[in-house]
Amino acid sequence: MKRIGILTAGGDTPALNATIYGAVQRANALKIEVVGLLRGYAGLLDPQVPHVLLNPLYSSIPELDPCKGGTLIGSSRTYLDHNSHEHLQVAGRHVAKLQLDGLICIGGDGTINGMQQLAEMLPCVLAPKTIDNDLGLNYPGEPDEWQRPQGAEGPSVRGVRSRDTLRLEDIINYATPGFATAVFVVVQMVERLRTTAESHHRIAVVEVMGRQSGYIALGAAYAQPDIILIPEVPVDPHQLTQQVSRIYDQQQNVVIVVGEGVRGVDGRELGAAEPAFDPAGNVKYAGAADAIVGMLEQSLSPDLFLETRRFEPGSSALFSRKVGHTQRGGRPILFDRFAATQLGGKAVELLAAGYSNEIATLQYSATDGFTFRSIAANRLRDRWGEIHPREVHPSLYDAGRMQLSSLGMEYLKPIFTRAVGADDVEYMRREVFDAGCLSNRYQSINSDIRRRIRYL
Ligand code: F6P
Repeated sequence: MKRIGILTAGGDTPALNATIYGAVQRANALKIEVVGLLRGYAGLLDPQVPHVLLNPLYSSIPELDPCKGGTLIGSSRTYLDHNSHEHLQVAGRHVAKLQLDGLICIGGDGTINGMQQLAEMLPCVLAPKTIDNDLGLNYPGEPDEWQRPQGAEGPSVRGVRSRDTLRLEDIINYATPGFATAVFVVVQMVERLRTTAESHHRIAVVEVMGRQSGYIALGAAYAQPDIILIPEVPVDPHQLTQQVSRIYDQQQNVVIVVGEGVRGVDGRELGAAEPAFDPAGNVKYAGAADAIVGMLEQSLSPDLFLETRRFEPGSSALFSRKVGHTQRGGRPILFDRFAATQLGGKAVELLAAGYSNEIATLQYSATDGFTFRSIAANRLRDRWGEIHPREVHPSLYDAGRMQLSSLGMEYLKPIFTRAVGADDVEYMRREVFDAGCLSNRYQSINSDIRRRIRYL
């Protein structure tokens, strides 16, 4: 194996450069050239095929910094259409012209679908990434639980779960790079909103990302929100109102964390009242937190605020905030850098060992800690070939208390107990208020990398 390609597809995460860095380091050791394809699959379909050699003479280019968020080779939500013969022909031609012996795709489920077709032309391996932490399985065989009513067309639906509890060592892909940093950002925001909620006796509803999976919302538990709502468990307005009233009565402020894809009891996504879609066809959520605020404005008794907000309307006690794209950006914390660099390196090893259509994975066990392994991409597919986002298993969430369960705590601890490195804190002290930031213009990686771009 002399030359491989690498691309980053889908929404960015803070740990993409770290994954690329890990792959390039391992490739340097194995004397393999690494070509970065620009803007994900879009670059591969572009007639000019913009690309960058990431390790001339087997040493990484200086722009490749594992501590910097985003991706120096750019990303897009353009995916290879696996039903399009033309797409595959074009991509195949470009890969051949670039003389690639293998390809590493850094992405999530949408990326695997494109990769599967390419894997028929050249060896392809996926290095996982997603802040949503939804690429993986709660246990092997989980995709077989999806069903389609007999004779019915359309997407499969989740059937009865075969396991009512989880063994942490069975989880395939314990955590995906980007997740830990997203939680790190969310926790700080929730913690800061709490003091305002306390001072002004308010109810704060904080919306976090996670389309179909509530992992980021669960991770927010470190900031001790009073209530956590996740997409996997429908919100019962009556239960929510009771819980909020009880907590407000006790402490005169409430902090609620809500995953953006949260649903009502009718299964409707609360944040997608007027659904808009991104180029990949995913629903863009407009406001789950606003929907929860609206729900509580209707249901909470004005008497609740008599003592604390006598001179202000009760409804002004409620406010919503989205953490938004800050969850996806900026410097990755230590845990993500560690997992991402190792997974990038593992992806190169898998290609060098002759694997294709394979996924590098992060595994955990109490005895061995974190280890890096792999599974065939097809093991994530249900009987109809669909890959479903990994959901928060019911045993990780206590639906009655609307909180993390005790097993949920056990799940989070290995990731977060040492997730923040001393340098992550030192960086804030040293670099954020560096006086040079005032006088120097921001130096964008996009301009730096432009000088290195080659075209076919
Ligand atoms: O899939 C990752 C994700 O961060 C989701 O949590 C979120 O819904 C979405 O991407 C936002 O994507 P966009 O970049 O299109 O706003």
